[in-house]
Amino acid sequence: MRPAEDAGGLVGIVGGPTKGNRLLVKRLRALGYAATRLTPAAAAAQLQPGDVALDRIDVLPTLDGVAPGLDDVELLVERGIRVVNPPAVLVAAHDKLVSCGLLRAAGVRQPHFSHVTDLDALRALPLPCVVKPRFGSWGVDVFRCRSRAELEQAVRLIAGRSWFRRQGAIVQDLMPTPGHDLRVLVAAGRVVGAARRVAAPGEWRTNVTLGGSLERIPELPREAASLSLAAATALEADLVGIDLLPLDGGFVVIELNGAAEFDDRYGLHGANVFAEIAAALDLPLPRPASGTSEVATARRAHA
Ligand SMILES: Nc1ncnc2c1ncn2[C@@H]1O[C@H](COP(=O)(O)OP(=O)(O)O)[C@@H](O)[C@H]1O
Ligand SMILES: [Mg+2]
Repeated sequence: MRPAEDAGGLVGIVGGPTKGNRLLVKRLRALGYAATRLTPAAAAAQLQPGDVALDRIDVLPTLDGVAPGLDDVELLVERGIRVVNPPAVLVAAHDKLVSCGLLRAAGVRQPHFSHVTDLDALRALPLPCVVKPRFGSWGVDVFRCRSRAELEQAVRLIAGRSWFRRQGAIVQDLMPTPGHDLRVLVAAGRVVGAARRVAAPGEWRTNVTLGGSLERIPELPREAASLSLAAATALEADLVGIDLLPLDGGFVVIELNGAAEFDDRYGLHGANVFAEIAAALDLPLPRPASGTSEVATARRAHA
């Protein structure tokens, strides 16, 4: 337990040791924040009121659902510790069925979608469409089906997936795939960053994990900003990444990311995206620490 005099001012990055989480810690520390990455259990044990938890728990690699630890984050909420995003919001962002439903209820422009839970219904889908896991990420198991043959091939693979047996699949109309899209970051109702993702040669999906590249953009189109803000509001998200595809001179929301990966290239107009996020979220700066605990020592090192 931390001594009481050490309370407040710690920014816990709650999640695994991903590249994005490590960079988040590094950049926040450089800005003077006492940021540290914590497992959910460590966060529940160490964080105190006055601290903030950035909940970055991701989906499972199997795409079967959200990784463990939400109970620990729930404990933080119960103890009055500020959590960005609260567990229900994070789950809504990870669950494409819930997030598409919230976008629909709010009238946010997105492809028509449905939820399919059996293989016969999958085989009978109108074409062209995209079939993807409810709790998907990294572009994994996202299938483009333009012909019966492509759909049948997808169905054969999906039939063996545990995620499909557990949660079924999300089906969307296939949008035009120009080989690039926009990822916009919204924090506390403000656009804080954006970048262009360009699909790898021969790949239709823009995910960086599938070889896509990331480019800075000089300017975010106004419609992209307003659509992203509407999407974040629909989810009541404090911090969210929104994938937008260009369509008919405007944009359409493809999906929302509750634990989005981002780096310096997301900075708009030369801004530091990490500073923008910290300011939008009003993250606490560390108080001078007097204790001798590990956390106090960490805080002194960054104060
Ligand atoms: N309905 C769609 N129409 C066109 N392209 C899509 C559609 N859905 C997904 N994509 C492409 O596939 C990529 C991955 O899909 P996405 O829904 O973002 O899943 P993930 O959570 O795995 O990133 C998107 O970035 C986009 O390039
Ligand atoms: Mg995506």
